[in-house]
Amino acid sequence: MPARRLVALLILAGLAVVAGAAPATAADRWPRGFLWGTAASGFQTEAGGRPSNADRRSDWWAFANDPGLIGEGVVSGDRVARGPGFWSQWRGDLDRARDRLGSNAIRLGIEWSRIFPRSTATLDLGERIDSGDLRRLDRVADQRAVRHYRTVLAGARRRGLKVMLTLNHFTLPLWVHDPLAVRRAFAGRAPDDPVPEGLRRGGWLDPGTADEFATFAAYVAARLGRHVDLWATLNEPLVQASQGYVSIPGVTGVKAPGVLSYPAAIHVVEQLALGNAAAYDAIHRQRPGARVGLVTNLLDWRPDDPSRPLDVAGAAHADQVFNRLFLDAAVRGVYDTNGNGATDPGERRPALRGKADFLGVNHYSPARVQGLGAPLTASIPLFDFSPRQVFAGHGSPMGPPCPTTCTDFGWEIDPQGLRHVLAEAAEYGRPLYVTENGIDDEEDDQRPGFLSSYVAAMHQAIDDGIDVRGYFHWSLVDNFEWAEGFRAHFGLYAFDPATLRRTARPSVRAFRRIAGGS
Ligand code: FCB
Repeated sequence: MPARRLVALLILAGLAVVAGAAPATAADRWPRGFLWGTAASGFQTEAGGRPSNADRRSDWWAFANDPGLIGEGVVSGDRVARGPGFWSQWRGDLDRARDRLGSNAIRLGIEWSRIFPRSTATLDLGERIDSGDLRRLDRVADQRAVRHYRTVLAGARRRGLKVMLTLNHFTLPLWVHDPLAVRRAFAGRAPDDPVPEGLRRGGWLDPGTADEFATFAAYVAARLGRHVDLWATLNEPLVQASQGYVSIPGVTGVKAPGVLSYPAAIHVVEQLALGNAAAYDAIHRQRPGARVGLVTNLLDWRPDDPSRPLDVAGAAHADQVFNRLFLDAAVRGVYDTNGNGATDPGERRPALRGKADFLGVNHYSPARVQGLGAPLTASIPLFDFSPRQVFAGHGSPMGPPCPTTCTDFGWEIDPQGLRHVLAEAAEYGRPLYVTENGIDDEEDDQRPGFLSSYVAAMHQAIDDGIDVRGYFHWSLVDNFEWAEGFRAHFGLYAFDPATLRRTARPSVRAFRRIAGGS
């Protein structure tokens, strides 16, 4: 079937969904073995219901529940413990994924803090984790948590769902990262001041974190890897680095620790690239045939005014900093330490290169850029622009009004953005999965159209010759949206925090019509 007709059909199918009619399923129009599913992280979904479902050993538990940060408005004050309770509700949710959505895959997260309650650094492990090391690690690991995750992953497999498992989705164990102490260490420092020395529990600022992360990855691969089809080392490293370390509440998004330090941000990107490489190698050593990728957030960067050369240059620079910096490191082995956009001596880093068998692309919206004509910081000379992704909405209550059509979160809707970023990711020569795409829409009046139009754009990318192998919608059930808490509603299902009962939104049927039968 010619591509144009196909896309037209898909769009019609989408419109029919909106109108409540019954479109044909798209199952036979996708590459063989195409994966359809939903994505979630551990921390955002596990807590809720019984208090024991919550993980108090996580840095994000400390960050989200801190009275000072709540008072300052850095985090919403919503209680993580009022979440959807996936820790106990996973059976029903996996049934829903398979039976109601027609999924054949699911992207789940595993929480490092649940597996290892304390450091493994004292164990004197070999550089390559062998069976003796694994037994030593067994004694430190929380075996209840290991058994729990094993049951969940095997349960997904038993239901015919292929499993993509994310090892790091923004959270770190408190013994790796104490976000409140890190904030105190940065207090009173200017954005270009050097990173404070001697930080304990410094998270990704600490060079030891990459090694500890690799040990965790090796352990999970050895003990749980039988039930995993695809591995994602890190989720959105650039979001962790930028929102964690160039964090301006009310202006940028906030992730832990939420400080403002350009040198810290650029250092953290490098540490994340080292962590990715170490975890990639660790998983491959345990499971030579494993498929290990990383998940990156790609925005479609656009000049605010396309006729203004400064905005055009700014958009290209934003693309380099936010979309390409990490991919250049993890795939091509080039890390732009001085943030100037050129490959200078010493910036070729073979140890970082080739550390992704596939790329996961998270895409939600385009972003606009105003060029400033001068860098904001000497630490990242390429940063000479003002980026904006979020307009007035849950993501930025005081943000400027939406210039076009936006979601409840304040993100602009334009499905062609997905096609563009898939083309960009394809330049790195790896198979692609859309690992997140979705919309904050409690009323579900925009989601059916959003879903079908973004899926149609993904199909256009495939027709353009891009190797896209799956689509994971964010998310199955509403969950804890980081600093924004429960204000945002990204779920195909809503839930009641008192009973944990799930309620399907109309988009469940829209998703099934698109994905079902695969
Ligand atoms: C992505 C995150 C995910 C969720 C969605 C809405 O940036 O990976 O955890 O917060 O945004």
